[in-house]
Amino acid sequence: MHEAEPAEALAYYEDPGPGTGALPPRAWWAASDARRVALGGQWRFRLGDRADTYDDGFAAPGYDASGWDLLPVPSHWVLQGHGSPAYTNVRYPFPVDPPYVPTENPTGDHLRAFDLPDDWPGGAAVLRFDGVESCARVWLNGTELGTFKGSRLPVEFEVGELLLPRGNVLAVRVHQWSSGSYLEDQDMWWMPGIFREVTLIERPEGAVTDFFVHCGYDHVTGTGTLRVDCEPGGTLTVPELGLDIPTGEPVIVPVEPWSAERPRLYDAELATEGERIPLRIGFRSVAVEDGVLKVNGRRIVFRGVNRHEFDPDRGRALDQETMREDLLLMKRHNVNAVRTSHYPPHPAFLDLCDELGMWVIDECDLETHGFQEVGWRGNPVDDARWTPALLDRAARMVERDKNHPSVVMWSLGNECGTGAGLSAMASWIRERDPARPIHYEGDLSCADTDVYSRMYADHAESELIGRRTEAPLADAGLDERRRAMPYILCEYAHAMGNGPGGLSEYQRIFDTYERCQGGFVWEWIDHGLRRTAPDGSHYFAYGGDFGEELHDGNFVCDGLLFPDRTPSPGLVEYKKVIEPVRITGDAERGQVTVTNLYDVADLGGLSFRWTYEVDGEPADSGRFEVPATGPGESALLELPRLPADRAGDEAWWTVRAVLAEDTAWAPAGHEVAWAQFAAPRQPAGRAHRGRPHSPRRAGGGLITLGPAVFDAATGALRTLAGTPVEGPRLDVWRAPTDNDRGMDWFAESRLDRAWRTAGLHRMRHRVARVAVGGDMLTVAVRVAPAAADHALHTVFTWTATGDRLRLEVAVTPEGAWSVPLPRLGVRLGLPGQLERVSWYGAGPGEAYPDSRAAARIGRWSATVDELQTPYVRPQENGARAGVRWAELTRPDGSGLRIEGEPFWLTARPWTTEALDAAAHTCDLVRSGRLWVTLDHALQGLGSASCGPGVLPAHRLDVRPAAFSFTFVPLGGTAGPTAPTDLEQQ
Ligand code: GAL
Repeated sequence: MHEAEPAEALAYYEDPGPGTGALPPRAWWAASDARRVALGGQWRFRLGDRADTYDDGFAAPGYDASGWDLLPVPSHWVLQGHGSPAYTNVRYPFPVDPPYVPTENPTGDHLRAFDLPDDWPGGAAVLRFDGVESCARVWLNGTELGTFKGSRLPVEFEVGELLLPRGNVLAVRVHQWSSGSYLEDQDMWWMPGIFREVTLIERPEGAVTDFFVHCGYDHVTGTGTLRVDCEPGGTLTVPELGLDIPTGEPVIVPVEPWSAERPRLYDAELATEGERIPLRIGFRSVAVEDGVLKVNGRRIVFRGVNRHEFDPDRGRALDQETMREDLLLMKRHNVNAVRTSHYPPHPAFLDLCDELGMWVIDECDLETHGFQEVGWRGNPVDDARWTPALLDRAARMVERDKNHPSVVMWSLGNECGTGAGLSAMASWIRERDPARPIHYEGDLSCADTDVYSRMYADHAESELIGRRTEAPLADAGLDERRRAMPYILCEYAHAMGNGPGGLSEYQRIFDTYERCQGGFVWEWIDHGLRRTAPDGSHYFAYGGDFGEELHDGNFVCDGLLFPDRTPSPGLVEYKKVIEPVRITGDAERGQVTVTNLYDVADLGGLSFRWTYEVDGEPADSGRFEVPATGPGESALLELPRLPADRAGDEAWWTVRAVLAEDTAWAPAGHEVAWAQFAAPRQPAGRAHRGRPHSPRRAGGGLITLGPAVFDAATGALRTLAGTPVEGPRLDVWRAPTDNDRGMDWFAESRLDRAWRTAGLHRMRHRVARVAVGGDMLTVAVRVAPAAADHALHTVFTWTATGDRLRLEVAVTPEGAWSVPLPRLGVRLGLPGQLERVSWYGAGPGEAYPDSRAAARIGRWSATVDELQTPYVRPQENGARAGVRWAELTRPDGSGLRIEGEPFWLTARPWTTEALDAAAHTCDLVRSGRLWVTLDHALQGLGSASCGPGVLPAHRLDVRPAAFSFTFVPLGGTAGPTAPTDLEQQ
């Protein structure tokens, strides 16, 4: 419990109120004919370690700061060589002692001198800050303007009377910690600073104080409703609609509606006596009707991501190109929705969402999750002293962003528990903007919301909710209300490290139940900070790399993009799973069904192409004409009849939907959706000529069999056609993924621990028998960990025909097994010169049993380096699925071919153990060998790093198994491989 505090006035940075001196919040607009002065650039900067290290004399005119450092603004000073960033997920990195903050409170003094442009007219002007973390006190020319908190929200001060033509001095003192920090406990780096723009904006007489564009669309009549409220009054012109109307006056006009798929905007101009503002207006109506969220009368499905603002070098100080890049990447990966977790983004991002088309849930800058650590005692959202700050935050978000058609819902914040403060925010928002539904996930009763939103609910529960048969709430009234709400997963499919698995199964639920309106993958991008290793290479740092006392490690790296914005395999999978066209084929019937899964668009923007491949070789290709097919409709297409087929084992049809024309976000030909299906055929069944060999015991403790030489004592393969080989050994271990490692706070999710307890990372191989008999070599090995009696009894049976060496593996479990296996296969060590891998199977990217929708059957080739996926914290990666054959070759083409029933192929320049031991990518050092694992089966990925584990269908339970591979030496252009020492013995 808190002791009674002395009744002293609180310091401004500890006062729970929002601040002092600011103008009322209002809309943001990118430009107008009112002049602006951008105040970014190099500022003078000094850092104190307490709020009062320095007095405020620096704000006085004439202060000499020439000895201070220079700091770019916008920036976070901790990324500019002053102090360090720190990462915690839920826990506050300071005592939970609201509204007080630690005495150690890094405080950055910022100074900027500026002149006004010669044509600056004088009169009123405002100074705007778009984002400062976490609390600032501001002076202009020695006069204090006020103080503010609310890091990701704008604030403006009236400054006209203080401005001088020359030599203005803007002084800003920024405290890292403030009462506002208690409201900003989002799972991300703590990074103080002036991280968004600072701008001086002229406010001529009669300029716009604020305006609100009220736009709707009536899908029955096809008309738009429009009314722009403006203070002061003026006129609105929309040339394309022939409108020139006074503000405040409603009109109804026939229009094309705005949607994320067809972001139709109308250029307009708002003019008052003192200002002209260019606008872009989008007509759309959002409503919850009959338990379904609809836009323009149609159910929409969120194919969404949670987006934090992040750049590996600049933190949350994003430039416009990066914002656009994010949106282009999203659009190209079929993402149609963004939740702005967990704060309003830079305002320009929403302009881009309007322009390119994105459904947006705009979330307030509010999270008090750290109070959970203390049983939610003192939670600000349930303490009236904080309500003004909460209302201030709600108003600053809604007023700033109210004019964006892309914003379809307001979110009160994230993970704040429950309390009257949230209800106050919701009531205020409803009153101010009744046209948008309200979202908040943290209150299961949904008392203040219009949608039932959850995070990480598993498939089974989501399905129950989809049927509206979920477990009831205790309060019957609330239960009835919630049961009638649409359901969304505001977070799901935690994309940490290798994963998420189980996306397809979620999508099936969204496709099946009208109530399930999609979700938002957690999250868009890994927040790894770029650092340089001693050897000069780059790697990405995470929690704990900056000496933090408390931290949450690499939990900050859980995105679909790597920190440098390279798409991860998870994003490629997501793109496939959420594709807006479903294509299914039935080669026997000669038919293809194309289903339009768009919310509103028809298929007119796509062209459909097919290819026919035999054993991965192109045999024929062409295009389909697809009739007009509206959303929700399907078209049936006839597959072409092909002339006499080329010989081969397998034939596959691939149908692709690509953009018919260039769009604002991708060029014509960009692939949107695809499917593959096999053509029925009889496998040719190749006769492999050559005589069967018999194994022979040779001198030197060796056994020869066809092209292979074995160790007679251990049965291990030593060389194959002269190439030294280590193994093969039975392999059940993988470097645990973040999803295998589960959640710290939920022991049952920690599969890696169960695996280590079961000894799977330290299996011993006891050779029980090496037998030469007839035309086969048989090696029996008992594979088991120390201190346990569970084992995998493994029999390797080797035969050879001509230059082909065949291995059959039979695995029989012994004893009690309580864990699934990470993998089941064999591992080989090969010369490091085998650096190119070509295969026929699924590709080109990595795949795992519950994340393989994006891999397609074909012939692929990659270097060993290209097969590695650089997860920020190294872990199992790079498996290729469904491999029929693979060739591992040296630059001269010599090497090894491996054939099998479709198997999983992994090839890497380091061992699994080294991968397991590495903490950052720079820890991985080439071993000089190529380590290849040929897997019969793999455990799925799941998303247990925060959410459900592997679904039963993708668990690798321990049971008897049999599989086989054939190894064929490949001679290169450089002739036969030189014999090794071994062979010469
Ligand atoms: C959620 C939270 C996110 C993030 C995620 C796990 O609980 O809302 O901010 O922490 O879990 O990565």
